[in-house]
Amino acid sequence: MSLYLALKVVHILSAALLFGTGLGTAFFMWFTHRSGEVAAIARVARLTVLADWLFTTPAVIVQPASGFALMRLMGYDGRQAWLQIAFALYLVAGACWIPVVVLQRRARDLAIEAARSETPLPVAYHDAMRWWFVLGWPAFAAVLSIYWLMVAKPTLWN
Ligand code: HEM
Repeated sequence: MSLYLALKVVHILSAALLFGTGLGTAFFMWFTHRSGEVAAIARVARLTVLADWLFTTPAVIVQPASGFALMRLMGYDGRQAWLQIAFALYLVAGACWIPVVVLQRRARDLAIEAARSETPLPVAYHDAMRWWFVLGWPAFAAVLSIYWLMVAKPTLWN
């Protein structure tokens, strides 16, 4: 297998991991949250935080690293519109994802505490989950748009 193909496989696998883990953990976290079962919320939130460290964080690093390597290999100078918009959107996704990671940890800690003390989930937990939900949408839209840009490579100004 050529270096190009190997890098592209890594790049695409990493994209699948980034998108799939984000969507999958969000799905389970959201529907468990909606169930209101404190012990289940605590368990799923703990696993979501773990999945973020095990899968999403490496993918967040591998994605631009393999992308820049592909650029070099293919002779792209970074002036192509699709690449520039993708960079900007990747920053948008990152700017949403970093607070989401913090909010998930907060929600997890508060849910674990509520489960342990057998008390209702506090207001701070619901605030964290509200922002977690709000920030998830632009991150999701940004990653979907990057997928399209990467595949279509539209010519706008370059
Ligand atoms: C953030 C920095 C990124 C850079 C510098 C980058 C760079 C590149 C380059 C140069 C290619 C072209 C490879 C080719 O035409 O053979 C490519 C392909 C691809 N990228 Fe990215 N990428 C980045 C992020 C992403 C993200 C976040 C995703 C999706 C989550 C993604 C998904 C893809 C896919 C699916 C392809 C294959 C497209 C095809 O073969 O038609 N990339 N990337």
